[in-house]
Amino acid sequence: MVGAALCVFLCAFCLGAAQYVPPYTEDCRTGMYPPSGPTFKGAIPWYTVNLDLHPSERWRDIMTSKKNELLSMIQAIKDLADAFVPSGRLVDFVDRDLPLMVDTLPYPFNEEMKGIATASGVPLGEVVLFNIFYEIFTVCTSLIAEDPNGNLIHARNMDFGLFLGWDLKNRSWVITEKLKPLLVNVDFTRNNRTVFQSTNFAGYVGMLTGIRPHAFTLTMNERFSLDGGYIGILEWILGKRDGMWMSFLTRSVLENATSYTEAQKLLSDTKLLAPAYFILGGNKTGEGCIITRSRTHSIKPLELDLKQGRWYVLETNYDHWKEPLFLDDRRTPAMKCMNQITQSNISLKTVYDVLSTKPVLNKLTTYTTLMEVSKGKLESFIRDCPNPCMPW
Ligand SMILES: *[C@@H]1O[C@H](CO)[C@@H](O)[C@H](O)[C@H]1NC(C)=O
Ligand SMILES: *[C@@H]1O[C@H](CO)[C@@H](O)[C@H](O)[C@H]1NC(C)=O
Ligand SMILES: *[C@@H]1O[C@H](CO)[C@@H](O)[C@H](O)[C@H]1NC(C)=O
Ligand SMILES: *[C@@H]1O[C@H](CO)[C@@H](O)[C@H](O)[C@H]1NC(C)=O
Repeated sequence: MVGAALCVFLCAFCLGAAQYVPPYTEDCRTGMYPPSGPTFKGAIPWYTVNLDLHPSERWRDIMTSKKNELLSMIQAIKDLADAFVPSGRLVDFVDRDLPLMVDTLPYPFNEEMKGIATASGVPLGEVVLFNIFYEIFTVCTSLIAEDPNGNLIHARNMDFGLFLGWDLKNRSWVITEKLKPLLVNVDFTRNNRTVFQSTNFAGYVGMLTGIRPHAFTLTMNERFSLDGGYIGILEWILGKRDGMWMSFLTRSVLENATSYTEAQKLLSDTKLLAPAYFILGGNKTGEGCIITRSRTHSIKPLELDLKQGRWYVLETNYDHWKEPLFLDDRRTPAMKCMNQITQSNISLKTVYDVLSTKPVLNKLTTYTTLMEVSKGKLESFIRDCPNPCMPW
């Protein structure tokens, strides 16, 4: 019952899909870095999360300063829900039944969510819903490239909010716009020293983008798959709980793995609730891979291979051995720009150009992250895609 209601709740949004707009592409951009102008909406503030604190205390600073932004985002989700099911029943369900789900989630994530609810004043069920959402509505582009000196660059666009309320007047996605003010960079510390860093939406405890300085870099992209889909998430709600939430796995890998090889093994072998792509970079030549996951195992891993001329790997939301959906092809334009730049001129700067080229940059793009493992560097920028621009 709870599962069915959640499914209705999530599917209700899909009916609000955007009107069709023909693919809008442009020539590969150049000279976009350092970010400025209409595609750059601002820098993202840094915060510290001290892992030595009790999980319920860790997010307090962030939630104290981002409370209003989180409330405003949650209100926008409720408005969407009410527009589809005007009785208010869906919101009742979230407030009444989802809080019970928090105790089925693994430690420390359950305790962290309770702390976030307390610090922000957002009801616990809504915090849980917000955390589940990310497992479902992300479409992205991630890439890892090796420069001629063997230096690894890992970058991504985070595109989020597909089907979540197209604003006709603004020609933008309601939820995508509401998420931008929630962006934070987080320095996770133990004994007052950085363990890993990530770019995150305040209120969300899983990880989609992160670096373990000098060891590895990691991003996750959604994998839509008929065999697997969201069945695992429904099973979890219904009580069969033998897989791991995808973004909890990335968080625990960033927190606990100490090398590329160890991270690769965990990301390849851990049983998951739904399929996913993990894009993992190491700290020496040739260490960069796309891990395509079914719920149980890794399929056709693709690694950098300089001898074969494969100096970069790039993943959107389609299996690398298949053609992307023609309506949603960010892979071809991104690869075209990478190939045009060539390995000899690849850098954080030129990678930012690739991620600034429409439709790799689109109406769902919330942020762009650039990471350089050897320098222990992560920088992220809030993005905007001025019209005319593809909705996804
Ligand atoms: C390398 O990239 C920079 C920055 O985009 C560009 O200005 C320059 O012309 C490129 N050089 C070559 C040889 O492609
Ligand atoms: C349109 O979007 C801007 C930000 O992109 C926002 O400030 C404004 O409130 C939006 N307008 C409407 C009618 O939603
Ligand atoms: C943590 O490190 C910073 C900078 O190294 C220092 O200023 C601060 O006093 C340290 N805090 C504690 C609690 O050790
Ligand atoms: C690469 O990572 C390994 C494992 O964490 C570490 O031992 C090694 O020192 C790192 N190398 C560099 C160049 O940072």
